[in-house]
Amino acid sequence: MQEGLGVRAFTTRELRDMFRDFFVSKDHVPLPSASLVPRNDPTLLLTGAGMVPFKPYYIGTAKPEYLRATTCQKCIRTLDIENVGMTSRHLTCFEMLGNFSFGDYFKKDAIIWAWEFVTTHLGLPEDKLWITIYLDDDEAFDIWNRIIGVPSERIVRLGKPDNFWEIGVGPCGPCSEIHVDRGESFGCGQPDCRVGCDCDRFMEIWNLVFIQFYCNEKGEYKLLERKGIDTGMGLERVAAVMQGASTVFDTDAFRPVTQAILDAAGLRGDPNPKQMTSLRIVADHARAVTFLIADGVLPANEGRGYVLRRLIRRAVRHGKLLGIQKPFMVDMADVVSSVFSHTYPELVMRKDHIHKVIGSEEQRFLERLDQGTTMLQDIVMELENKGSLTVPGSWAFKLYDTYGFPLELTREIAGESGMTVDEEGFLEAMEEQRERARASRHALGYMGGLSTAKAEALSGLDVEFIGYDTLTGESKITAIFAEGEPVGHISSGQDGEVVLDRTPFYAEAGGQVGDSGDIVGEGFRARVNNTVRLSDSVIAHNVTVVEGDLSVGDVANARVDEGMRSSTARNHTATHLLQAALRAVLGDHV
Ligand code: SER
Repeated sequence: MQEGLGVRAFTTRELRDMFRDFFVSKDHVPLPSASLVPRNDPTLLLTGAGMVPFKPYYIGTAKPEYLRATTCQKCIRTLDIENVGMTSRHLTCFEMLGNFSFGDYFKKDAIIWAWEFVTTHLGLPEDKLWITIYLDDDEAFDIWNRIIGVPSERIVRLGKPDNFWEIGVGPCGPCSEIHVDRGESFGCGQPDCRVGCDCDRFMEIWNLVFIQFYCNEKGEYKLLERKGIDTGMGLERVAAVMQGASTVFDTDAFRPVTQAILDAAGLRGDPNPKQMTSLRIVADHARAVTFLIADGVLPANEGRGYVLRRLIRRAVRHGKLLGIQKPFMVDMADVVSSVFSHTYPELVMRKDHIHKVIGSEEQRFLERLDQGTTMLQDIVMELENKGSLTVPGSWAFKLYDTYGFPLELTREIAGESGMTVDEEGFLEAMEEQRERARASRHALGYMGGLSTAKAEALSGLDVEFIGYDTLTGESKITAIFAEGEPVGHISSGQDGEVVLDRTPFYAEAGGQVGDSGDIVGEGFRARVNNTVRLSDSVIAHNVTVVEGDLSVGDVANARVDEGMRSSTARNHTATHLLQAALRAVLGDHV
């Protein structure tokens, strides 16, 4: 029993099971967590909520086999990364318990069941629970107030930022949250502290979203044909509340990880506040990177690979701040895997892969970190002597360019000495470098090795691709190259590259071969053997002239070989099918 709320200190694992069993008893199908890499969803980088795998069911673009489901979903959200370690409850990697209705039950059942679970099964005292609803959601108010009996003073109406849930393009709607009052000792002590305050007194544990709309790319809300329910209960937060833990990092699922970090650092006794922040950052990020790599994400300089790289680098740096001298992240990943292996077996199945990826990324970063940190410390000292509080953008860029120091890291290290970074200057330096790269690429030619004359000729060209709609098209010849140089015309028997103002020919890309076919006009015919891209905007046809002369300015008819295109398309589809099969058998990291 915990003092304060007087509830049973259920373990994280018990909570997961209780939630699932409860919703199974309400006819929900229990499903395993989906991958952190969203399937077929270009609008999302990572799975950040339990509803992500179900988006098509709400929108109606796919039909579910069941109308009710329940999951415990692994999630990554990096929006609040700066808050991790600073508060008692922010994480980048967390588990979300959820129950979902796809056009089946709606507000009333969702609210009744949520209340039943928190009061009867978790045993949370009713008078410590606060409810928030969307400003004008009188229907939700009536259910909470009249059916459940929550007094109106504990039902708070909040605006869009708090009580309207959306995920960019996708299903969305007003929501209602359950908060637990953990008592004054958790609070900020401000006279206006109440539900919605940023402090730790009122902990939001469960969000019930009433899915009613679809938000399109333009940000317009369209009413959905069938309403749905999407709920999300933060497992770490509930565990903290139930276990009487002052922060999520003090719960049973985190303790083995934080202990392993303290052991690696050789820290005895209570960490000081700075060490505590680093400890929590390492603990959170160690979980995040282990889960991400198990789901096939690899470190990279963009997209989700960059999220992973950034998390590894931050964890390694904070490990160093704690005094950890040797590489340690592989050991931390092992601790994470052992804590979660029963729920997420992929962590154990991909152990070797996780070791390899973390190990090599950590090693690479450690080498640069030492050099870069020394350099940055010198910079900071020099600036301090000059009485300046801003790291110039060009210096921050040099750290980025030479030592792989992401801007956030420079910002963070500079911030530790009370300095800021000239971020605009950083972006300008980055743009200047891009320009230089562009210029040298231009001089060299897009694919390397183009003659200056050809590069110049290309810079003035622009080709419209019309091949998604048609396989033939009327065009004008805008340039011809023979043996790498621009020429006015080519004749029968000669090979060359022909550029048209518009073309239905698909250029070789990403392993898919380019189209072949014919370019014909009055008195000439050229066989297109392949189609290639000479620059971002120029598609060229590698031709052999079969008949007559082709001259710049001629009107021509471009005809793609239909059989060839459909074989290419079939092969392309087959590749996708093969990849899907490989992923199903070998895993999402394929
Ligand atoms: N999608 C909502 C959230 O993430 C409820 O699951 O809070």
